Amino acid sequence: MAWLTIIVYLSLFVSSNGVLDDLPNLYDVAANLGCDRFLKLTEDAGMAGILNGTGPMTVFAPTNNAIQSLPRDVLARLSSDKDLLKAVLSYHFTTDVFNSTTSINEMLIPSEQGANIRINAYPQQNDIVITASGGEIILKNVQAKNGVLQVISKVMFPLPNGTIFELVNNDLHLSTLFLTIIKASLGWTLSADPPLTLLAPTDGAFSNLPAGTLTTLLNDIPKLTDLLLFHVVGGTYYSAGLVNNTSVTALNKGTLNIKISPENNIFVNDAMVTTADVSVTNGVVHYIDKVLIPPSFYH
Ligand SMILES: *[C@@H]1O[C@H](CO)[C@@H](O)[C@H](O)[C@H]1NC(C)=O
Ligand SMILES: *[C@@H]1O[C@H](CO)[C@@H](O)[C@H](O)[C@H]1NC(C)=O
Ligand SMILES: *[C@@H]1O[C@H](CO)[C@@H](O)[C@H](O)[C@H]1NC(C)=O
Ligand SMILES: *[C@@H]1O[C@H](CO)[C@@H](O)[C@H](O)[C@H]1NC(C)=O
Ligand SMILES: *[C@@H]1O[C@H](CO)[C@@H](O)[C@H](O)[C@H]1NC(C)=O
Repeated sequence: MAWLTIIVYLSLFVSSNGVLDDLPNLYDVAANLGCDRFLKLTEDAGMAGILNGTGPMTVFAPTNNAIQSLPRDVLARLSSDKDLLKAVLSYHFTTDVFNSTTSINEMLIPSEQGANIRINAYPQQNDIVITASGGEIILKNVQAKNGVLQVISKVMFPLPNGTIFELVNNDLHLSTLFLTIIKASLGWTLSADPPLTLLAPTDGAFSNLPAGTLTTLLNDIPKLTDLLLFHVVGGTYYSAGLVNNTSVTALNKGTLNIKISPENNIFVNDAMVTTADVSVTNGVVHYIDKVLIPPSFYH
């Protein structure tokens, strides 16, 4: 009796070509997993039908908490600017069938929006943290009839738009950093692959340097270059890949110590990350509130 029931059950799911095609579609899978805020946004954007489409596709579905955690101004922009909402949501879809079990660090997947989704694999203790443009995949490879769902703990926002160098050039809060990069002729380094992580001191951070320091640096290019390369790490380190009480090596070979406070603020040496995980086409940028001074400067 039991085996008969199993055969009847299996036959419901196996089509004539042997594919499990009577699984629920992505829309219902996302609903069953409680991603209803994401579904609501896709409905607002008139995109929910895609999740019931023929596929195959991979959907990176942010949790409800991920959507609620977006800064207020971002949520406001998403509800008032439908084109932006559509762009952000399209960035969470790809026609690639992505299997997070076999993901490779720094792999790029073209999204439906056009920009690439960057996959990172960060070995941590007994586990590997997999991120998609910084959003940790917390539920992997959920099969649907028309594709695969990957549940992520963070909305992939902002979308990568230009290189590290272009971001610094376009952000009015990074004008001093831009000036120093030009002086040290590091624009090319920050425009190229392989990917990098930039810790970007804001104009406020530079203005807190002791009087005269910036002028001295601008007149000593080797020293300025050393200081700037102390702010750059090889590889893409989204915040999910930064582990408390560890260190990473900067391009000037200096050591950057990572601390995460109980309130979840990230510190790199004595600087605090004020805006984390700004995706760019060749890596990621974290804004910091202090200029990082290489220890050699004190000798
Ligand atoms: C998608 O299909 C489900 C049933 O499988 C239905 O409940 C839902 O309303 C559909 N949504 C859209 C936008 O087509
Ligand atoms: C993902 O890859 C693993 C390892 O190759 C495989 O066992 C698993 O079935 C794949 N999952 C999907 C959803 O394709
Ligand atoms: C990308 O950056 C350029 C230059 O700042 C800007 O004009 C454009 O609107 C941005 N595009 C998106 C999609 O944000
Ligand atoms: C932090 O790391 C250092 C060296 O890696 C280790 O000695 C110390 O016990 C760690 N502290 C905590 C709280 O994990
Ligand atoms: C990080 O480690 C420090 C000790 O090195 C500890 O005081 C702090 O609570 C830890 N942060 C988190 C988020 O666990």
